[in-house]
Amino acid sequence: MSKSRIGIVGCGAIGKSLAKFIEGQLSSKAKISALCDLDYSKAVLLKSLLKKSKPMAADLDELIKHSDLVIESASGKISYQVAKKTLSRRKSILIMSIGGIISKAKELFALARKNNCFVYLPSGAICGIDGLKALSLAGIEKVTLTTRKPPKALKGAGYIVKNKIDLDRINKETVIFEGNALDAVRDFPQNINVAALLSIAGIGAKSTKVKIVTSPEYKDNSHEIEIISKAGTIKTVSRNVPFEENPKTSYLAALSAMAVLRSIFDSAKIGN
Ligand SMILES: NC(=O)c1ccc[n+]([C@@H]2O[C@H](COP(=O)([O-])OP(=O)(O)OC[C@H]3O[C@@H](n4cnc5c(N)ncnc54)[C@H](O)[C@@H]3O)[C@@H](O)[C@H]2O)c1
Repeated sequence: MSKSRIGIVGCGAIGKSLAKFIEGQLSSKAKISALCDLDYSKAVLLKSLLKKSKPMAADLDELIKHSDLVIESASGKISYQVAKKTLSRRKSILIMSIGGIISKAKELFALARKNNCFVYLPSGAICGIDGLKALSLAGIEKVTLTTRKPPKALKGAGYIVKNKIDLDRINKETVIFEGNALDAVRDFPQNINVAALLSIAGIGAKSTKVKIVTSPEYKDNSHEIEIISKAGTIKTVSRNVPFEENPKTSYLAALSAMAVLRSIFDSAKIGN
């Protein structure tokens, strides 16, 4: 059987780690066919690191043409457009920048169903999506995400800049933001893909509550999720180690995408 061709849009920390994982762990089933990055030199650099696949550095249209599965690991600014183009051409997509599709997920799922292809949304930096999916069959009453990050991990976020919050002056545990997931994704686009996934898998962005808390005492990023349903209550906490190549990304987020890729190509599917 011929190998699945995988194209990667966004050759930064996650894109690179997934490419290496595919070459290292999935090479009997898949190969990297094409790479695309706004910064062409990053696509060329990653190409030079891959020994088995020999991908082309391509633009988005070419990449989709030469792929069976597209991985989007670039930016929430383009994830919707990349997904729509990919699915329109009857190819499947794995989306990392989930914040960018928060209001468009249903449209993308409908397109995938119509065109007989798949949308994969990894759990990313959180745990509990399996429970949320199961409980939603009985009806969900409330979903709350509390994200805790050290001040440096929030630097540059739109909300921090707009509200002139001086993160260097924070000297105790402080709630920076409290609102719904839609507002959280708008105000913290790089930090809050988890809120988007939680909304899509659960009760929607307007009903999902988000709290962002910081403290100089925090050493790592953590996400606490509380799900209340008549079938039970779930509380999970993931305390994440920052990814070496990009401290704004959690190591768990990259690992979770690797687990999804492994599951795509494995006959055993564990968990819901
Ligand atoms: N789902 C999750 O839980 C989760 C967790 C962490 C990161 N993410 C998201 O995954 C994406 C990648 O994260 P990362 O840590 O690898 O970031 P990164 O900054 O290390 O890499 C992003 C790469 O994408 C490229 N890029 C940016 N805009 C582009 C465009 N318009 N077209 C093509 N390439 C473009 C950049 O040049 C860069 O090489 C980000 O959007 C991030 O928010 C999701």
